[in-house]
Amino acid sequence: MNHPSQGVLRAPVAYPEHALPAHVQKLARPAALVKARALAFLMFEKPDLAACQTFLSDFGMHTVESSAERLLMRGSGPAPCIYLARRGPKARFLGAAFTVAGEAELRVLEQQSGARRLQPSEIPGGGSGVELVDPAGNLLWLVTGQQALAPLPLRAPLLSQANCYGETRRVNSTIRPPLEPAAVAKLGHVVLQTIDFAGMADWYMRHLGLIPTDVQYLADGSPNLCFFRLDLGDTPADHHSIVLAGGIEEKYEHSAYEVVDLDALGHGQNVLRANGHRHMWGIGRHVLGSQLFDYWYDPDGMEFEHYTDGDVFTASHPTHYVPLELSGIWAWGDDVPASMGVKKDLGTVFKILRLLRQGRLTFARLKLLGQAMGAPRPWL
Ligand SMILES: [Fe+2]
Repeated sequence: MNHPSQGVLRAPVAYPEHALPAHVQKLARPAALVKARALAFLMFEKPDLAACQTFLSDFGMHTVESSAERLLMRGSGPAPCIYLARRGPKARFLGAAFTVAGEAELRVLEQQSGARRLQPSEIPGGGSGVELVDPAGNLLWLVTGQQALAPLPLRAPLLSQANCYGETRRVNSTIRPPLEPAAVAKLGHVVLQTIDFAGMADWYMRHLGLIPTDVQYLADGSPNLCFFRLDLGDTPADHHSIVLAGGIEEKYEHSAYEVVDLDALGHGQNVLRANGHRHMWGIGRHVLGSQLFDYWYDPDGMEFEHYTDGDVFTASHPTHYVPLELSGIWAWGDDVPASMGVKKDLGTVFKILRLLRQGRLTFARLKLLGQAMGAPRPWL
């Protein structure tokens, strides 16, 4: 039913690559130099490592190393580190590290891309690796041979005990999961905003062998955002390990960490609230990737996401194309916070003017980006 004050309910649309509307451009896929196997850890510079350690512990990570100069945190999985912070004057994202199969991949990157060889002591868990710098100035590390850690115990998922209408699985017992931080099992993905979407997408696909899972396009049909997954062949890979979003600045948007189930997400929210951390958005369900999500700010206002129940695809799943709209981010839950959109302040105006003057942004593209940020709800 359509009532003037209620808007129109709309189901999201998605087109497989072989059935693209005529005006939509395919995202060109370059040949890959190497294929990454996993998103290993993220690197940050932080002025107050102790404050980060407190937040991340309440967020469900565990400390591996804590010194005056460096903080390493792990999840419950075998990865020796999922978060690295170096002490420095500014709170900022430094870059991401992915694992590759072996030395052969590192040599390809040294020879073809001029990658710098890392010292084993620089790499959490040791092993070997190389460093690249992406076109926006972020570091990209490719590492191999890190020493895995023994996984930490995680409680069993509660879904097998859920009572659904018509399926009664729980009789004479209750659901009382422990009130504890949402144990982070693993690092899931990182999302970066960039001014040059096409250039960054090409660069990351070439250096990581990424597969575009879902490409989002502007009203003129040009791709402007992509959820990329790893090419693991027949092994299912997360819907996205890295997301690049075209915008008006080079910026870390958020990173996301997988927890066991929805009750972990909910109890984790209680723990973070009780300890005075700043909530951002959730609980809700995303459309692209399907995850149940809950977003938090770290002490420096950087965004961290808990998620569970995400999609996984093998390499054969076709790329899909979806119109880029702010309302396409989530299926249900509270309205997306204003901070996810473009800030309407003087600083943003100056940024836009500078990009226009430099020829890195056109008025036509600015208008298209503005259109994409409209329609604030999935049901309008
Ligand atoms: Fe996310």
